[in-house]
Amino acid sequence: MNLPVHNNRPEDECGACGDRREFLRNAAALVAGALAGLGLSPERAHALQLQTIIPLRTSGKEVIYPIPAGDGAMIDKDRDLILARQATAIYAFSLACPHQRTALKWLGDQGRFQCPKHKSKYRPDGSYISGRATRSMDRFAVRRDGGNVLVNLSQLFREDQNRAAWGAAVVWLSEK
Ligand code: FES
Repeated sequence: MNLPVHNNRPEDECGACGDRREFLRNAAALVAGALAGLGLSPERAHALQLQTIIPLRTSGKEVIYPIPAGDGAMIDKDRDLILARQATAIYAFSLACPHQRTALKWLGDQGRFQCPKHKSKYRPDGSYISGRATRSMDRFAVRRDGGNVLVNLSQLFREDQNRAAWGAAVVWLSEK
């Protein structure tokens, strides 16, 4: 069987292929340049992304999610909510940074949250580490029902206004 003629041509004779390769090279360089401008390598930028989670259902003011299988954080974009697990603890946070409400990021490789705007840093339990923010991440009230965690969207606690409720806004999967 004869192969199509263009398959036998040297690469540099395929004008359209060359144009496409050049376009892709330029696009990749543009993306790499933009990430570098932000101080991010492509790998680092990937680590900043939060995986999305979709609730099983809602019930009144509560949103019901399956208990996360492992450590990390996921975002419910429709509710601006972060569901996070650290070992046997489950938390639900507001996505908004307590400083100026910028959407927070999860740095999976460092196991903590960070605000991309002014670089405030938070531990996996939402507690404040450093930066311009003056309090920890805001927590929603949570409770467990079997294999699910129920987040009450009408109860969002600020650490500086209600420390006891903020501290209690956690589901423990087993005894500490
Ligand atoms: S908006 Fe997050 S630290 Fe300023």
